[in-house]
Amino acid sequence: MKHAALLGTGSCLPRRILTNSDLEKMVETSDDWIVSRTGIRTRRIAGKGEDNFRLAGRAAKKALNMAGLSAADVDLILVATITPHMMMPSCACFVQAEIGAENAFAYDLNAACSGFLYGLDLADKYIASQPDMNVLLIGSETLSARINWQDRNTCILFGDGAGAVVLSGSDTRGVQASCLYSDGRLWNLLYMDSPESLNPEIKQKDRRGCYMQMSGPDVFKFAVRSMEQAIRNLLRKENLSIDDLALVIPHQANIRILNKLVERLVIPEEKIFINVERYGNTSAASIPIALDEVNRKNRLQRGDKLLFCSFGGGFTWGAVLMQW
Ligand code: ACO
Repeated sequence: MKHAALLGTGSCLPRRILTNSDLEKMVETSDDWIVSRTGIRTRRIAGKGEDNFRLAGRAAKKALNMAGLSAADVDLILVATITPHMMMPSCACFVQAEIGAENAFAYDLNAACSGFLYGLDLADKYIASQPDMNVLLIGSETLSARINWQDRNTCILFGDGAGAVVLSGSDTRGVQASCLYSDGRLWNLLYMDSPESLNPEIKQKDRRGCYMQMSGPDVFKFAVRSMEQAIRNLLRKENLSIDDLALVIPHQANIRILNKLVERLVIPEEKIFINVERYGNTSAASIPIALDEVNRKNRLQRGDKLLFCSFGGGFTWGAVLMQW
């Protein structure tokens, strides 16, 4: 059976850099507080001409270029996002038009920060049943438009950006296994309603419901526990241990969540990739942006085992194993 293997990666970050000292001028906070609680020093903020689908399209073009494919070779475009610039059409359809992938079908998927991993699993299943398919999978977000910039609990955490991968069938490389989970009962610990909400419960209770709402300490606890469990389940299922992995690329939420994960699973420092200090939490885009960085630095060799893990709104979480 063919597996979804990487042919190329790409990413696109907005030009504007927002530093912690910029944030000190916007809300009552400090660089010290932000760095010690989150590890974040800077994040990118989308400006004019940097809509979600445009960032996604630029990341996609770089990934296609590395793959040696043209946009016309793409059969499916999947965009993982929680910040499409319209409810309809999908961001994926805008990307299709943007890059000229006229032979593809295209749609979005929403699994919050786990969107890219859900997309990898989905792409792998498409490729298993249609081995000649080229799949363009993108995680792309413009979260800055959905952040309350007066709320110091949330505005320090998030950033904008896009990462893309081109996947096609391989007998030896690619996605080997996934463990994905959701628990919709916990939705109100992390949510973002739409501005045109038809949900009277949220509108009456909290008129700021259209911005990112989060119970930080609860999210923290669940994120650590859930990602740890997902990784343990995946390794058990595949009869592997942390020693067998070349690298772990986690969702870049915040350094303290990642430190706890490292501590509980005893992951050596050199086996986990972290860039949250530069980009903050870019939700569905964080893993593909990190993956592109890893790939362009040639950190992995053929045959290496790479593990991704994530946690996000829904709640959704999971882990995916890939052979390089
Ligand atoms: N600057 C200064 N003080 C602040 C700030 C800020 N930016 N934000 C909150 N505080 C204050 C609070 O008001 C509180 O003050 P009080 O004691 O007077 O009430 C105090 O700091 C402590 O607040 P806590 O919420 O207890 O701080 P905590 O140590 O839990 O850190 C944080 C908060 C960073 C949000 C933490 O809970 C966390 O990392 N949660 C996970 C959140 C996350 O990563 N969400 C991303 C989405 S989900 C995902 O991607 C996995």
